[in-house]
Amino acid sequence: NEGALWGARFAGGPSPELAALSRSTHFDWVLAPYDIAGSHAHATALTAAGYLTADEAAAMHEGLDELARRVADGSLVAAPDDEDVHGALEGALIDIVGPALGGKLRAGRSRNDQIATLVRLYLLDHARVVARDVVRLIDALVSQADAHADAIMPGRTHLQHAQPVLLAHHLQAHAWPLVRDLERLRDWSARAAVSPYGGGALAGSTLGLDPQLVADELGLARPSENSIDGTSARDVVAEFAFVGALIGVDLSRLSEEIILWNTREFSFVTLDDAYSTGSSIMPQKKNPDIAELARGKSGRLIGNVAGLLATLKGLPLAYNRDLQEDKEPVFDTVTTLETVLPAFTGMIATLRFDTDRMADLAPQGFSLATDVAEWLVTRGVPFRDAHEVSGELVRACEDRGIGLEDADDALLASVSPLLEPAVREVLSIEGSVGRRTGVGGTAPERVAEQRAQLVARAQTL
Ligand code: ARG
Repeated sequence: NEGALWGARFAGGPSPELAALSRSTHFDWVLAPYDIAGSHAHATALTAAGYLTADEAAAMHEGLDELARRVADGSLVAAPDDEDVHGALEGALIDIVGPALGGKLRAGRSRNDQIATLVRLYLLDHARVVARDVVRLIDALVSQADAHADAIMPGRTHLQHAQPVLLAHHLQAHAWPLVRDLERLRDWSARAAVSPYGGGALAGSTLGLDPQLVADELGLARPSENSIDGTSARDVVAEFAFVGALIGVDLSRLSEEIILWNTREFSFVTLDDAYSTGSSIMPQKKNPDIAELARGKSGRLIGNVAGLLATLKGLPLAYNRDLQEDKEPVFDTVTTLETVLPAFTGMIATLRFDTDRMADLAPQGFSLATDVAEWLVTRGVPFRDAHEVSGELVRACEDRGIGLEDADDALLASVSPLLEPAVREVLSIEGSVGRRTGVGGTAPERVAEQRAQLVARAQTL
């Protein structure tokens, strides 16, 4: 097998059971384009150090280009006896350029520094895709906020009516964590753009190759400062998986609300037909499966980071084969996000809100009681007393089965002489929302200001 990267010191070939356990081509083949990019860069470093003549270098790069074409068009795939992507590609390169030249490429590199570099290249590319998808979701949330700029809904704490808020404020509250996720991806990218290539198995190379040259060729900022760390650390993979899990959690929180809002009891939203599913038995059903799958898949994204951390925690330096177990979870995080985010964005962009119903419900549950207390504060009443007076008014209204806004002058006066009829000026949801003018508050001008900040910070990578 030309793809075998070792063997001479062994009396015979690997057992089939070992080969079956060891093989990774079924998942690491996605790294093939990055492996080839690494080989181009490494060939350049070998040439610069005098190990390849100009002719050899030209033939090597041409051979690697041919290899890339064969991978891209699917004519080259891993053979059943290939251990991993690195061996399979070396074997195929030798088929193209011959053993005399092909056999030179591996000088001064190891699968250990290769894999540590390739996984970064893969994740850096996909971080850009994920960031773009997150930006699209933020755009969808902001567009819905814009389309319902005046709509008022019941704001909740403990899932109970608390105070009225603008729907736009609430939607933007879901966009901010996503903005921070984008910022996390950007911070992560700066840490990830470091090249372990040149670290060899663990100790570096005796051949005088220039790791900065390889890093430059690969578009990475610089080589790893420490070859042992570069080949064995996977915190950069775990951190990516964590940011992915956090995106999952942020989608899951919004999913939970959409599922609730879509119930008959809430009836706050209607899902577009193209973004909901039916039942195999109940003809009437229209289910919020996208939100449920997003909520469910957040568990899987959390599992990926948890599993990865468990794999890493007991490992001595330097490379250990356990590290091969970083790939399937983090690749799964990438595919999961790249599948969930576009569907989720479509669901959000096509949601229809019943803003009349939201506005009707907004004052219910005595959600203006804080406004009454704060009105008393503006009249010079200490908040402790104002809280008591407003609480007594709530109780009096509750006993009579009416809302705060229905209390007549006599009822107000019977609760407290402090409750003059003028208190009614704060007993509207528009008034309640409009007066919350502190920075970050739900007053329309604050929400508009916040929208501008949100959009300015929602940048792709
Ligand atoms: N497939 C390995 C990984 O994913 C890279 C190869 C390193 N193998 C080795 N025997 N040192 O980490």
